[in-house]
Amino acid sequence: VTINLAHHGDVDATAGLVDLAVNVRQAPHPGWLREAIAAADLTRYPDATAARAAVAARHGRPDRQVLLTAGSAEAFVLLARALRPRHAVVVHPQFTEPELALRAAGHEVDRVLLDAPYRLDPAAVPEDADLVVLGNPTNPTSVLHPSATIAALARPGRTLVVDEAFMDAVPGESESLAGATDVPGLVVVRSLTKTWALAGLRAGHVLAPEHLVEALAEAQPHWPVSAPALAACVACMSDAAAREVEAWLPRLDHDRRHLLAALSGIAGATVAAAPHAPFVLLRTERPELWNPLRGKGFAVRRADTFPGLDDHHLRVAVRDTATTDAFVAALREVLT
Ligand SMILES: Cc1ncc(COP(=O)(O)O)c(C=O)c1O
Repeated sequence: VTINLAHHGDVDATAGLVDLAVNVRQAPHPGWLREAIAAADLTRYPDATAARAAVAARHGRPDRQVLLTAGSAEAFVLLARALRPRHAVVVHPQFTEPELALRAAGHEVDRVLLDAPYRLDPAAVPEDADLVVLGNPTNPTSVLHPSATIAALARPGRTLVVDEAFMDAVPGESESLAGATDVPGLVVVRSLTKTWALAGLRAGHVLAPEHLVEALAEAQPHWPVSAPALAACVACMSDAAAREVEAWLPRLDHDRRHLLAALSGIAGATVAAAPHAPFVLLRTERPELWNPLRGKGFAVRRADTFPGLDDHHLRVAVRDTATTDAFVAALREVLT
């Protein structure tokens, strides 16, 4: 069975449905962020210097180890264009764009499939892999891997790509490798999309050794990141912005616990792995539950398009408790 790796939650979340399919935070943009974006000068070509310096300062790295990108999606395309892997390995289940980008660039991709509860098993990664891609915390499993386990995958001659699109939703970014400059071949990909609810702006960045940043930059078009996206990047790298995220995390944790508690009272659906991201992967006894859930007004992410999962899996975003209660009631109905 071939699966559609290009499927994403935005396709599931059609108008009129309650959106549990897209994991973008549902909060109004803070005033300072709206103002920074609106103040960007659109008459000039964008200059990434300030945003690069802001990202570098935030992660304690030199500017030349930072590359600004049009979302993390662009970073995966750049990696696929710039690298010449002989044995590329993607650790699944995970976000499918890295594999798609590698394939589109003509590379073969070898899949390592983790079994439930989807903990990283370093021994499963072939020793001769010269490119390894994984996510932390991982979409769609919501599993947070220990940074030491990931770092132990580094080898001379191997590029190790860690997609940290959701790491800012982890308290203290405890398992982040964004500041790790002593791991050979490490490439960390970050995004403003999720926590800052900026999916439409396209703002992300790569943290990597200088020579890799240079190679990726050569694969980029001129002016790849718009002035508003760069302005948002500067604003979101501030200490004040980091404090706002820290202040939101207890709410996220509360809402996630509420979802887990509500789900625990339901027969026929189990949480597939302990969640650490703003979403939860479910395994349901009955297949394809996303269809009847649509009929009840809820868009969830079908998870059968993730390698390693099947139509008994779906992913739901952590939302406010009222939304969660309504969703879990609908889930109970479609399960019986
Ligand atoms: C794990 C993960 N990484 C990256 C992305 C892409 O995000 P961006 O908007 O930064 O391209 C997504 C979006 O769904 C994601 O889930």
